Formats: sequence, C-alpha cells, structure tokens
Amino acid sequence: MSSNQLDKKTEAWSALFSEPMSELVKRYTASVFFDKRLWQADIQGSLAHAEMLAAQGIIGQSDHADIQRGMAQIAREIESGAFEWKLDLEDVHLNIEARLTQLVGDAGKRLHTGRSRNDQVATDVRLWLRGEIDLIDGLLTDLQRALVDVAEKNVDVILPGFTHLQVAQPVSFAHHLLAYVEMFARDAERLADVRRRTNRLPLGSAALAGTTYPLDRERVAKTLGMEGVCQNSLDGVSDRDFAIEFTAAASLCMVHISRLSEELILWMSQNFGFVKIADRFTTGSSIMPQKKNPDVPELARGKTGRVVGHLMALITLMKGQPLAYNKDNQEDKEPLFDTVDTLKDTLRIFAEMVGGQLNPATGQKEGGIAVNAAAMEAAANKGYATATDLADYLVKKGLPFRDAHETVAHAVKAATSHNCDLSELPLAVLQGFHPSIDKDVYDVLSLRGSLSARNTLGGTAPAQVRAQIARHRNRLG
Ligand code: ARG
Repeated sequence: MSSNQLDKKTEAWSALFSEPMSELVKRYTASVFFDKRLWQADIQGSLAHAEMLAAQGIIGQSDHADIQRGMAQIAREIESGAFEWKLDLEDVHLNIEARLTQLVGDAGKRLHTGRSRNDQVATDVRLWLRGEIDLIDGLLTDLQRALVDVAEKNVDVILPGFTHLQVAQPVSFAHHLLAYVEMFARDAERLADVRRRTNRLPLGSAALAGTTYPLDRERVAKTLGMEGVCQNSLDGVSDRDFAIEFTAAASLCMVHISRLSEELILWMSQNFGFVKIADRFTTGSSIMPQKKNPDVPELARGKTGRVVGHLMALITLMKGQPLAYNKDNQEDKEPLFDTVDTLKDTLRIFAEMVGGQLNPATGQKEGGIAVNAAAMEAAANKGYATATDLADYLVKKGLPFRDAHETVAHAVKAATSHNCDLSELPLAVLQGFHPSIDKDVYDVLSLRGSLSARNTLGGTAPAQVRAQIARHRNRLG
C-alpha cells in the first residue's frame, strides 16, 4: 500500500470491500476524538515494539532509526497541536501509524509486524492507566497529609461522636478526621494492588492467538517497565478487568469522599456551625442574599454517583463477551477517562479545601477548614454524651454492667427533666441513684475525662490520637 492508499484505508479496508463506510457509520465506529489522549502511551508502546523487532532481526536497524525519528516528529506535532487527527482513520493507532508512514515510508509500514490493534490498544490503556494511578496515589497522599495537618491542631477539640446521627460519646475532632485518613490509606493500598495487575504486557498476543514472528515479549515488558507479560494471548487482548478493578477502587474512594462531603455539609449548616470552608469553595444564592452554599462538597457527593455509574458501565460492557477481542471494548475508554478525571479533580480540590493553599510569602498553608471548637464542645455537652462513662464508673464500683446501665438511664431521665447535663446534677441527686457515687464522679462526667479514659489502641484519648498522628506522619513522609 502506498501512503496514499493508507489514507483511504477506511473507505475500503482492502480489495475485499465493495463499498465505503457511510458517514454515519464512520462517526459511530470512530474513537479518535476520545482515544487520542492515549497518544503518548501509543508511541511509547510502538517504540518498545520496534526496538524489539530490530533486536530480533525482524526489521532492519535503519527501519528502527526511521521509526524513532518519525515518532519523535509525531510527538512534537501532537504536542504543538499541529497534528491533524482524521476521523477517517478511526482511532489513535491508525492516525499515528498513517502519519508515520507518510513521514518515513516503508519503515512505518513495517512497525505493525507481529502486532494487531487488539494487543496494541490493550497495551496503551494499561500504560496510560498505570501513569494515572501513580498521579492519583500522589493526590491521595496530599489529601491524607492535609487531614493529618488539621488533625494535629485539633487533638484536644471535642465534638459529639454520633451513632444513628444521635449524640453517642464525645470524640476528639482529630480522631474523627483520622478515620478518613484510614479510608484514604486503604484506597491507596487498593490502587497499588490494581496497579500490579494493570502493569502487565498484552503486546505479542497479536490479534488473538499470538504471532508467527520470533518476538521477545519479555524484552518489551522490560523496556516498558511492566511487571510481566500476559500469559494467554486470548485473555491478553480481551479482558478489561484491570479497568473494572480500577473503577471499583475509584468508586470506593469517591464513596469515602462523599461521606466526608456529607459531614462537611452538615457541619457547615447553621444548626451545627462546627466548621467553615473558604469562600472560594462555596457559592451564593441568586435569591437568598444570606446564603453560602457548600457547592464543592455537594458536587463531590453527586459525582460519586457518576463514578459508580462508570463502574456499572464497564462491568456490564464485559459481561457475556465471548473470547477474544470484540469492538464492544472500544467503549471502555470514556467511562475510564472520566473516572480518572473526576477522581483526580475531586482529590485535588479536597486536599486544598481541607488543608488550604500554600502562601509562598509565609511558607504556610492558608484557607483550610476553620474549626469552631466552642460550637463543637457545646454540641458535645448536649445529649448526655458521657452517660456511658457514668455506667463504667458504677461498674468500677462493683455494679454489674446491666444494672449500671439501668441506673444511668434514671439519671439521664432526671437530667432531662431538669433540663441540664449529667455533670450539672448535684452530688446528692446523683447519690440518690446509687450510694457508691462520690464527688470523683465529676471527673468522668466531663468531656475531657471521658476522652482520656478511652485510651485503648485506636481509641479517642489524646495520647492515642497523637500516637496515630505520628504513625501517619511517618508513613506519609
Ligand atoms: N479503537 C479500538 C479499541 O479501542 C482499537 C482496536 C480495534 N481492533 C479491531 N479489531 N477493530 O478497542
């Protein structure tokens, strides 16, 4: 085929086709307008393939040099925006190959020896996703650091811990934030695990059955920094489980973000008033002048649905596909790309919203979440958050726990009718519930006493929380 013929390839693939594709079918089947973002991975994969073809004597050294030269020029053209993407050439792979042949002639046509777009696209998506996973890992670290920074300043700030959104027991605000650090740390672990399975090489599987050329697949894997080669050609070209796994991990990460979003939204509401986020993450209302709406957390909560939707799209795409490659798989890209974009933007914005922005003049971060410790503490003083502490106190005086539980229920009832906290009931009143109660009871009824008493590993006592902060600092570097 002359390069002129290659340009017309989709008008009729070969002598076998008696009519060209209609415009509608061309548009329907083309992927270049979204898969062109794989161009760097496509060139990287092609260069590794060409290097191996030359090393194996399948193409000549001068062909290899021509391919390198042509690809360098193509990369420059794409970067500068001069490259002309053609819908007629269907996808990123055919666009780049056609341009290479235009630039270097026969060497360009030899590049595809022992290769198919089926193993090429599977390789490109894996290479691209590997790079994105590494970027996301960095963003997850930034967000965890931001949370740890805020936690460090708020170890002794107390807010009500909830179960069923009812006041349960007082907890340190730092402890609360560190719960999210744990979630994001697991998200990073999950992504690292997905990366291992993503980072394997399909190239060499060719269309589906392997190839007749003496390829050195291990060499290509090594050049591309991959951990190994796909060991079955049918599987290598067809499965997209790595993309599904990635989207599942991304969905979980977004679910964690949505939980944090929901808390920020509640905490910012007038009824809580626990925190403020910087104005640049909020918007006003066009009708109600007093409003400052938490748009960013709300959108993040909404975008969680979108990412979970992409997971559904990909897993449904794969379901029931017979071996090996099917064109269905071209539909893997848009959900995958949008998952990556949404997750990256969300993590970036959350790290800044929580931790603030670096002010180069002071070297300090500014404009992170502002904490209203007094409002948190006032809320913790409502709802009898130290009732369990009183029960534990009675157990230590010898009462069986169930009896202590019942005794405290009476005390709470009395406090409710006096419209006061347990710690505000006079000693004589408390002693009416049980004679073993002494004035040291007020130590356990205080929020700080309650906190310090929960000094088991993973508990909310300030000593435990400080130890966790140190562990995270050490881990996050
Ligand atoms: N654009 C295609 C995709 O994304 C490339 C592979 C095409 N292979 C084929 N046999 N039509 O999956």
